[in-house]
Amino acid sequence: MPASVDVVFTPDLLPFSNLMGKTVVVADILRATTTITVALANGASTISPVLTPENALHFAENDSDILIGGERQGVKVDGFHLGNSPREYTETVVRGKSIVLTTTNGTRTLQACQSAERVLIGSFLNLRAVVDDLMQAALEIVFACAGCEGGFCLEDTVFAGACVDALKSDGRSANVQLTDAAEVAHLLYREHNHDLVGMLRNCCHGKFLAGIGLGDDLLFCGHTNVVDIVPRQIDGRIVE
Ligand code: MLT
Repeated sequence: MPASVDVVFTPDLLPFSNLMGKTVVVADILRATTTITVALANGASTISPVLTPENALHFAENDSDILIGGERQGVKVDGFHLGNSPREYTETVVRGKSIVLTTTNGTRTLQACQSAERVLIGSFLNLRAVVDDLMQAALEIVFACAGCEGGFCLEDTVFAGACVDALKSDGRSANVQLTDAAEVAHLLYREHNHDLVGMLRNCCHGKFLAGIGLGDDLLFCGHTNVVDIVPRQIDGRIVE
């Protein structure tokens, strides 16, 4: 049963949080953790987050069977098989494949959480599954928001607030202790829960993605509770 919940708004603040012994949920709603959730739900075998496109391409040199995916400035990196739109990671494309992924914010955050006891991958698509997992085992929970280029982003924090709301609504954890940051996340969720897709369309990164022709990703990333898996990062690799 969860005892406490904290929310870390950007990866640069993670060094100030002691993650040892805690369960961390990484959220990069637009779009890395949504992409990871979809890829594994569609049958990808593993996803390895790496920090740079050069790291990713190096994997391809040594294994022609893996898929290289990710983005910089929101668009597919030259030489990659895939970008970072979750809509690209269909079953036909990813089933049985190992994927190497690098993105501007999400993969950096994943790498920064490796000292945690458990690292889960969260998105609106698997929100309920994430909360059910947290209810089973987690005592101290930290939501690690990927943010946007080092700054705060609304969508990741609203996701964390949605999970806080679900935890507090469950009688078994109604008294869970929230940090001020978790309280703020909960307030932001209550402000936006009536129209999550609208929130994604109006947030900074959502407007940026729409501006480069990726507005359909916003509707996709706003689908809630449509995937029942909880990807977890173990020894630097993400599996179902
Ligand atoms: C990320 O997922 O790291 C970034 O938000 C970039 C993106 O996918 O648009």
